[in-house]
Order: sequence, then structure tokens, then C-alpha cells
Amino acid sequence: MKVTAIAPSNIAFIKFWGKRNSVLNIPYNNSISMNLDSVSTTTSVEFLSELIEDEVVINDQAASEKEKQRVVKHLQLIREMAGIRLFAKVISENNFPKSAGIASSASGFAALSVAGARAAGMRLSPTALTRLARRGSGSASRSISNGFVEWIKGTSDATSVAKSIHSPSHWAIADVIVITTLGEKQISSTEGHDRVVSSPFYKARILGMPEKIREIKSAILKRNFTNFGNILEEEAINMHSVMMTSMPPVLYWSPQTVEVMRAVWDWRSAGLESFFTMDAGPNVHIICEEKNVQLIHQRLMNMSCVQKVLVGRPSVGARVLEVEK
Ligand code: DP6
Repeated sequence: MKVTAIAPSNIAFIKFWGKRNSVLNIPYNNSISMNLDSVSTTTSVEFLSELIEDEVVINDQAASEKEKQRVVKHLQLIREMAGIRLFAKVISENNFPKSAGIASSASGFAALSVAGARAAGMRLSPTALTRLARRGSGSASRSISNGFVEWIKGTSDATSVAKSIHSPSHWAIADVIVITTLGEKQISSTEGHDRVVSSPFYKARILGMPEKIREIKSAILKRNFTNFGNILEEEAINMHSVMMTSMPPVLYWSPQTVEVMRAVWDWRSAGLESFFTMDAGPNVHIICEEKNVQLIHQRLMNMSCVQKVLVGRPSVGARVLEVEK
């Protein structure tokens, strides 16, 4: 049986940075995100008796050894859950360029989990799929559910799960993704997560989390864009401060990142409301209301530091596209 699944990437408004358990990917805090319709991975998985090892193709090329090892580890988990021993053929395609510095692990492991579980003969519940995806990459757990999603940190494999808090149609906001630097990032998020405990600011970050989560959930529920934006922007700077004060320090921003951050502040003080957030890389995600997308897009196209702009809108989560018997 060959199963093909698609999964969206997601942008976190409240970030996952730091793992309590790095085998199970149990985070120190809950995180909140929105799935993105225009940035996705499509993956097909087929377990075949003629294979003597797993085969992994990503974007029409044999996966690198590092990429392959990570996929094989996840397939191994799926095989153990399903009680099968066959090797698999995995073909995965991102709809965004690899060099754009957009993390593919969230959409990638969400699509692999949905296609792989079904191809192995399992019918997992949506919640069980968030647990499986989490094992591949923490942020992938949030790409399974629809729309606006909360990943509950939990304390164990069974309790660390993601859930939809609102459907995609709840709020017409967008993520204007500003690609400032082409090329792969230097420090993977997996490596960065391990360093957080060395930052003197980390404890303060975690202590403030429950209140921040309560406040942003309330702002999302009420569609209060100003409150929502102020919280998500503070949160991005907060996480990057922890990154920069880790030992050794992790600095993901480039001069172009800062230029776009300052532009967002300038536009805001002149009445064009938008807020920024950044993940483990130099790209800037500008979060705005739908009515402002076009104007922000135009302004970005006039900035020489901007390489490319993509717009992501709220999306449903991962799903099976096709089952071929
Ligand atoms: C900064 O989920 O990529 O994007 O579990 O090691 O694959 P691994 O980490 P990953 O970390 C995401 C970090 C982040 C914030 C976020 O998306 O919440």
C-alpha cells in the first residue's frame, strides 16, 4: 500500500525552545502556532518486501546521510508501533526551496508520520499522530491539527500532545515570510535546544510562560490583534535573548533580519500595524491582518535586503491525500 500525505509548516507565536526530554521531545513549555497553507511537504510511504534498506528521496534527490538517518529512526518507531519489519520507500517534496532557510522538519515529520502510520496499516487518532510526529521533530506535532494549535507540554509521551484551539477560519491573519538570506542555517534547532539551560535568562523565560500563554490565548479568542501582536513580538525577542546568552551563544539574526525588524517598528509607529517573529534562522515572519498583506508585501519588495516573500494563511493540518493499493 502506498500512502501519500500532505502537511503544512507552522509558525509559532509562543515558541518551543528547550527540551525536558530530548529522546521523547518533551518541551519545557507549551507552545502556540498557526499552520500555514502555502508552505507544505507532501510525502509518500510504501513498505515493500523487496527492499533491503529504507530508501529516502527528498526534493528529487537521494537524502543526505544525516537527513536519511533521521527519517530511518522515525520509520523504525513506526515499524515498532505497527509490529512490522519491512523497509520503506519514502518520497518527500517540499513546495518551498531548500535554500530558503524555511525549516522543513515540522511539515516533513508531520507528513511522514501520517503517511507512514497509515502505510504500516495503523489507524491512529489525530492525538496519537501528534505524539508520533513530536518524536520526529517537536514542532511537527503542531502541524497535525487544524488552524491555530497548542502543544501541551505534558510530562510523558502520553501527555505531550497538540490540539487545535481554533479552526483556520477563526481569524483572517497572515504570515508574510521574509526570506533575507539564502543558504542553510549554521546551528540546527536540535543543537540549539540542548544549549538553553546554559542561559541565565532561561529560568525567567519559563517562569513567565503560563501567564503569557493565557494572555495570548485570550487575545486569539477575542481576535484582539494589538494584544496578540505585542505578546508574539516580545516572545520572539525573549527566545532569541535566551539563544544569544547560551554557551556557546546562538545568534540566528543577520543584519538583514534587524533591518526588517526595524522596518516593522517604523511602519507600526506610522500606523501600519504588524509584528515580527523569527525562528531558528535569519528569516523574518511578519504577522499581520489580511487587510494589510498587500501593502506590506509591496513595501518589502522595495527593500534591497529582501530576497523573496511568501505569504502563509491559516491552514488545516496534515492529512492523507491518496491511498494506492
Ligand atoms: C525556534 O521542532 O525544529 O522553530 O524537535 O529538534 O526538530 P527538533 O526542534 P524543532 O524546534 C523548533 C524551534 C523553533 C520554535 C518553534 O517552532 O516552536
